[in-house]
Amino acid sequence: MCGIVGYIGYREAYPIVIKGLQRLEYRGYDSAGIALYDGTNIKLSKTKGKVSDLKNKLEDEISTSGSLGIGHTRWATHGVPNDVNSHPHYSNSGDLVIIHNGIIENYDALKKELSKRGYTFKSDTDTEVLINLIEDVKKNEDTKLGKAVQIALNQVVGAYAIAVFDKNKPNEIVVARLGSPLAIGIGEDEFFIASDASPFIEYTKNAIYLEDEEMAIIRRNKGVKVRKIKDDALVDPYMQELQLNLEQIEKGGFDHFMLKEIYEQPEAIRDTFRGRLLTNQAIIKMAGVEDNMKKFLAADRIIIVACGTSWHAGLVAEYIFEDLARIPVEVEYASEFRYRNPVITGNDIVIAISQSGETADTLAAIKLAKSKGAFVFGVCNVVGSSIARETNAGAYTHAGPEIGVASTKAFTTQITVLSLMALRLARAKGTITSSEFRHHLIELETIPAKVEEALKSDGYVQTIADIYKHATNFLYLGRGFNFPVALEGALKLKEISYIHAEGYPAAEMKHGPIALIDEQMPVVVIATKKGHYEKVVSNIQEIKSRKGKIIGIVTKGDKSVKELADHVIEVPETLECFSPLLTTIPLQLLSYHIAVMLDKNVDQPRNLAKSVTVE
Ligand code: M6R
Repeated sequence: MCGIVGYIGYREAYPIVIKGLQRLEYRGYDSAGIALYDGTNIKLSKTKGKVSDLKNKLEDEISTSGSLGIGHTRWATHGVPNDVNSHPHYSNSGDLVIIHNGIIENYDALKKELSKRGYTFKSDTDTEVLINLIEDVKKNEDTKLGKAVQIALNQVVGAYAIAVFDKNKPNEIVVARLGSPLAIGIGEDEFFIASDASPFIEYTKNAIYLEDEEMAIIRRNKGVKVRKIKDDALVDPYMQELQLNLEQIEKGGFDHFMLKEIYEQPEAIRDTFRGRLLTNQAIIKMAGVEDNMKKFLAADRIIIVACGTSWHAGLVAEYIFEDLARIPVEVEYASEFRYRNPVITGNDIVIAISQSGETADTLAAIKLAKSKGAFVFGVCNVVGSSIARETNAGAYTHAGPEIGVASTKAFTTQITVLSLMALRLARAKGTITSSEFRHHLIELETIPAKVEEALKSDGYVQTIADIYKHATNFLYLGRGFNFPVALEGALKLKEISYIHAEGYPAAEMKHGPIALIDEQMPVVVIATKKGHYEKVVSNIQEIKSRKGKIIGIVTKGDKSVKELADHVIEVPETLECFSPLLTTIPLQLLSYHIAVMLDKNVDQPRNLAKSVTVE
């Protein structure tokens, strides 16, 4: 995915667009570019690399005046990351300029057609094809930019959020969306465009989020007109008041967003509880569940679809739902589910989990499930995201913006929402007694304070990180509720430190991975009390006999693992089903510190993007 940003109004566009790009860099950061228009000249500059590279290049190269500007930060799909493939792109005449987030799937056929008509292409991108298609329509139909964009988009297959301007129309930007987010900030005599609201939060709290298949013509001093791309119908857009504040999207004294977000978890979990976990009254209130209780109670099974860390949260939920609410659960990679021709009936409930609410595979899995008659419930963090809108009902995690590419607070707040759901359903189904229910609520309420306590291991985790930072492989083992935590710990290490790591259910070790163990191999074992503790201790003994280095994640006060392991990191005691909320904390810290010590870019690891809006 990519980030797009734009401005039209009375201020200088450059500082707004460049700062906006820095805020959107989590969406992609292999190249960046900007186009500024002062009514006479278009100044366009782009480069491979980060927004800071663009800034350096640009301030040397061109004047940055102009009160119309668009900018782009890229995560490459068509064409390698280089200066030429970076956005913005000009049309052949040099009159039209575009930025684009998404993929034009039929770009090849369109390109061939345009080539026959004499168009030439400098880049390998699908975006340059689109801007020339718009130019071609504009010429042939002798029409204005807005109409040309509309006609061209009706010929396009794929996904897009675009912003286009025309040299001959210095007071106008045309935007459109299908499958990629696009927000328009509405100020006084000024307008902002962005993939999310963070670039314009200090200028306005009013925003319109375009729906799929909508476009808008934004005119300086005039306003915004929204239309349907297909049938040209005028739309009366809903203006939202943004809840986001500047503090939430800044680092707040931490070196990295990831560390800030790790430390935000106690508060984020409290926010997830707010208004839902009413321990004194012994109730859980979740409107999305309450309103659809009949469907939940009648469901034959729950299918969870998600990707990456959200998929790991889904695996934890499988254990929790089955244990507490006795509902059969299957957890599917959305990317596999969508192409598997799965058997789904009207009695299935599909739960889609996604931090961003924009993951393309999860979105496609939802559409497939709905088409087969399933009721789809979303667990998202980003309010108003595509997945939140596409699902029949849902519950937000309320974790606040997660900027670090490595998901941390999204994981724990997803587990929190899913635990609340499982408990609510368990109570409704009578699969736990009222005293068990109350006991779970009381314990769940203590989790934020226990996460705070778990965070105190940070200093010791740094010492361990220093010892193992040069290891080339890691194993992560866990059982039951903590097996998905082992997978998540391994994913965190891989994605930000580039060290190879694998997560396994501890008992599976004997069936292969044990062959890897020697004195070079650090093995992180989650061995909290209760649930299979003795079995995991036996697994630790097996590792020890093969000279593996053991880092145990144990319950406070543990003695047995301490005797065997090279290092132990303690977490507070809790009910087994909630233990992933604590055991994951030292694993997040371990991967963070190793990556920092190896001098890796923690918040923007190579090849990754925060949300994956392409297949
Ligand atoms: O926004 P989503 O939760 O749908 O994203 C899913 C994955 O792309 C995401 O969890 C990814 O695996 C993270 N980088 C993991 O830290």
